[in-house]
Amino acid sequence: MKKYLLKFLFWATLAGLCYATGVLVLRQIPRKMPMQPVAMRSTVRTILAEKCASCHDSTRTCPLYGKIPGLAPVIGEERRRALRHWEPSNRNYLGPKATEGQKLDAPTPLAVLAKLENVLLDNSMPPHPYLAIHWGTWLSPSEKAILQSWCNVVRREWLVQWDITNNTEKVIQPLPDRLPFHAEKAALGEKLFQDKRLSADESLSCASCHQLEKGGADGIAMSRGIARRSSHLNTPTVLNAVFNLRQSWDGRAADFAEQVKFPVLSPTLMGCTNWTQVVSRLTEDTAFKTAFTAVYPEGFTERTISNAIAEYGKRLITPGSRFDRYLKGHKTVLSREEDLGYKLFRQYSCTRCHAGPTLGGQSFEYADLMDNPFKGRILTKGDAGLQAFSGHPEDAHRFKVPTLRNVALTAPYLHDGSKSTLEDAVASMLTYQVGLPYVENEVRAIAAFLHTLTGELSGKPLTQE
Ligand code: HEC
Ligand code: HEC
Ligand code: HEC
Repeated sequence: MKKYLLKFLFWATLAGLCYATGVLVLRQIPRKMPMQPVAMRSTVRTILAEKCASCHDSTRTCPLYGKIPGLAPVIGEERRRALRHWEPSNRNYLGPKATEGQKLDAPTPLAVLAKLENVLLDNSMPPHPYLAIHWGTWLSPSEKAILQSWCNVVRREWLVQWDITNNTEKVIQPLPDRLPFHAEKAALGEKLFQDKRLSADESLSCASCHQLEKGGADGIAMSRGIARRSSHLNTPTVLNAVFNLRQSWDGRAADFAEQVKFPVLSPTLMGCTNWTQVVSRLTEDTAFKTAFTAVYPEGFTERTISNAIAEYGKRLITPGSRFDRYLKGHKTVLSREEDLGYKLFRQYSCTRCHAGPTLGGQSFEYADLMDNPFKGRILTKGDAGLQAFSGHPEDAHRFKVPTLRNVALTAPYLHDGSKSTLEDAVASMLTYQVGLPYVENEVRAIAAFLHTLTGELSGKPLTQE
């Protein structure tokens, strides 16, 4: 009897081993078959749910062993860190009111893809200690191939709407030469952009703070609104803002058109109490009213004013930088130092967050990811970040990543304007975002590279005076 049992155990073990080896070998062979996008999407969802969600999905509850005293805080901290580094759900991008259905259908943001591609290349996820316990959650070559093709498909979905066909398999692209826009509406938008009647005391227009010749910002640390009130925030550029995932440091506006109401009705920016104030002033101007109603029969309203300004926003893009020429194949346009700077920019994975054609604007990231820049100073309203809009305490100090296009022109830097030179801003990125000590000549090279991102507005090169 005992002999039979031993024999059975022997063969059962052998069969088990053969099966495991077979599975292991088969999983090494990347799947060559091209997948339909719908099938690919659901396969990607399954991979992420099975292998990544226990740390990277805020709606998942902790596994049972996570309740073991002593282990719980360690696991809790690991999951917190994981989510701060990478949150593949579309929660922030769609705003706090998005429904589950919208979240599933929305294309994944470019920076979320860039980070995923980074870990596919360096094999760092899932973390090795986790793999030791959760045998089988490692990514097989075929799963990696699926995730990589999915990144390319989703990225193309974003780029095609901007007519970008260069570098679609890379994390950074050149800007398109132009975006289609409605010429008459954009011309009216341009007039409104310059119009001081949009502010309560008729002292400020959009262009007062977004000075196009100053790179689309105002050159001061924190913006000054009517009666010189401070909003505790640095004015971001309007140039290339149309490409942003959402608008404002805290992402409160879904797009350029929605953004218009915030400065107009903000007590610290343009100070109007309602739209009637603006509309009645503009309507008194009969010449402007006639020109406006010829294009917008309903006349001046919040919707039409915002629509015209947003149409003008499509003209505010700055292609033609030296970096764009480099990306399009003219490899000699960068000097040796600028080329080194770009190499370091990629090596330090600045592209994880500064991704896409605008090198930024594609995700919300923690200003205190690797270290705390707020240490020892009194926090202002402006430091809240995304939390001010979403209401989630875990979104504190999380900001829309600024674009690096024309960044050489838009000092001072960061949401609070606390860094006065580009070198200071780069050094602070190395400390607080990358978590590495900085080397002076590397910082200089990266800053030199960032100077090559200065482009042309309506065919005229932007310059530093
Ligand atoms: C045990 C928890 C855990 C699991 C499971 C896990 N991760 Fe992570 N992940 C982390 C942590 C922690 C970080 C923060 C970076 C670090 O500490 O290395 C992170 C960071 C990341 C980042 C951002 C890296 C960066 O450059 O900032 C990506 C992308 C990522 N993970 C993808 C994945 C994918 C894809 C999977 C599934 C195949 C996965 N992770 C599974 C814990 C996890
Ligand atoms: C008093 C200065 C001031 C005025 C006037 C002003 N803005 Fe702004 N603008 C800002 C500040 C400050 C922010 C950042 C606000 C925030 O994050 O909450 C901003 C943000 C923006 C953004 C988002 C950019 C990004 O990268 O997120 C756009 C677009 C914009 N403004 C367009 C306009 C338009 C259009 C007008 C005129 C209707 C206007 N602004 C008037 C100061 C100003
Ligand atoms: C994890 C995401 C992340 C990484 C990685 C990252 N950044 Fe940033 N970057 C941000 C955020 C967020 C801000 C805004 C922070 C703030 O306002 O306090 C920012 C701001 C900047 C600014 C200032 C732009 C402006 O207009 O104010 C520069 C310049 C910059 N980053 C360059 C770099 C460089 C160079 C690297 C690589 C060494 C890098 N960043 C890596 C997220 C990142």
